[in-house]
Amino acid sequence: MNIRQQFQQYFGKECRIAEAPGRVNLIGEHTDYNQGFVLPGAIDKKIYVALAANADHILKLNALQYNEQYSFSLDDMHPVKGWPTYLLGMIAMVMPEKRLPQGMDIMITGNVPVGAGMSSSAALCSAMGLALNEIFQLGLSRMDIALAGQKTEQQFAGLQCGIMDQFASLHGKAGHLMKLDCRSLEYEYMPFHFPEIRIVLVNSMVSHTLASSEYNIRRQQCEAGVKVLQKRDPSILSLRDADLKQLEAQRKEMDETVFKRCRFVLEENQRLQDACDSLTRRNLDDFGKLMYASHAGLSKDYEVSCPESDYLVKTIKEIKAVKGARQMGGGFGGCIISLVEKNEAETFIQAIQEKYAVEFGKRPECYIMNIDDGARMESVIV
Ligand code: GLA
Repeated sequence: MNIRQQFQQYFGKECRIAEAPGRVNLIGEHTDYNQGFVLPGAIDKKIYVALAANADHILKLNALQYNEQYSFSLDDMHPVKGWPTYLLGMIAMVMPEKRLPQGMDIMITGNVPVGAGMSSSAALCSAMGLALNEIFQLGLSRMDIALAGQKTEQQFAGLQCGIMDQFASLHGKAGHLMKLDCRSLEYEYMPFHFPEIRIVLVNSMVSHTLASSEYNIRRQQCEAGVKVLQKRDPSILSLRDADLKQLEAQRKEMDETVFKRCRFVLEENQRLQDACDSLTRRNLDDFGKLMYASHAGLSKDYEVSCPESDYLVKTIKEIKAVKGARQMGGGFGGCIISLVEKNEAETFIQAIQEKYAVEFGKRPECYIMNIDDGARMESVIV
């Protein structure tokens, strides 16, 4: 049964449906909240939100994949535990007076793996924001909705995230990556048309419970680095404004950990620029090397990797059919993104699944991803 039929069966009425994708990020990790650059693309795994008005003056929620139901009073838009917080947050962020003018029935479902670094929560926020914008004619732009999603993540889920995930979910374009300048919010679509290559995600199946607290600490460490750099040059407002020479010059003034965090961010921004150049030259060998270098930095300087991710990248690197690989997203597990020769993709998946299972006693899920369009109202029926 698709979500429209399920909604009809459960709530007994017609609904509107919004869908929003998760994302991959090819390179440029932990750069967004440092006002740097990212290179994401929306994917063909999505979250679906189905909605209709009710006359009961309450918000009724049903998540199909968890078989969980909740109801909230319309005046209750404050953070809660679990997935409903993203829906409540979006209502609070986009609706006039932070509340719905009428009761609503909402059902959600989807196939973006949760806790895998593929931004299922950003997809949920984006679908909800798009639906509210459409139903209540709020006149918001896609960027407004992305910013509301970011605020929801920060204020309703406690993750001091950047804008990459929400942006990508709302602005995706099939066959294209997006080079986003996270300071100006200007972006450029970059074709990613390599028929001989597949983007394969290998899920480490590790979803670290400390991920969000460690993430917030990384952000603070970068801000601490900026404060030290500012003492010498007050025009430095973020790591975007500094270069490696300036950082080196202030090294003695800062904690060594803070230095390493900042070095990673500056190098990662440079890697992203170089990666975009190699994309333009259609040189995926160079692109892949930058991905491996990105992972090394994430692991050693930024320290957001874990033994499972390091094992996967090291093992994948030995496979000839792979151009490049690295851990993707916030860190501490989740997925490894890799670029694999099309004809070898299935063999690659089998080999990595077997090796990982021997080493860690669990079988990693693998997904071959296509770069797809961003969020939209009622189209595909699940
Ligand atoms: C998470 C955050 C993003 C970004 C990445 C790391 O996905 O939501 O804003 O910071 O981590 O690049």
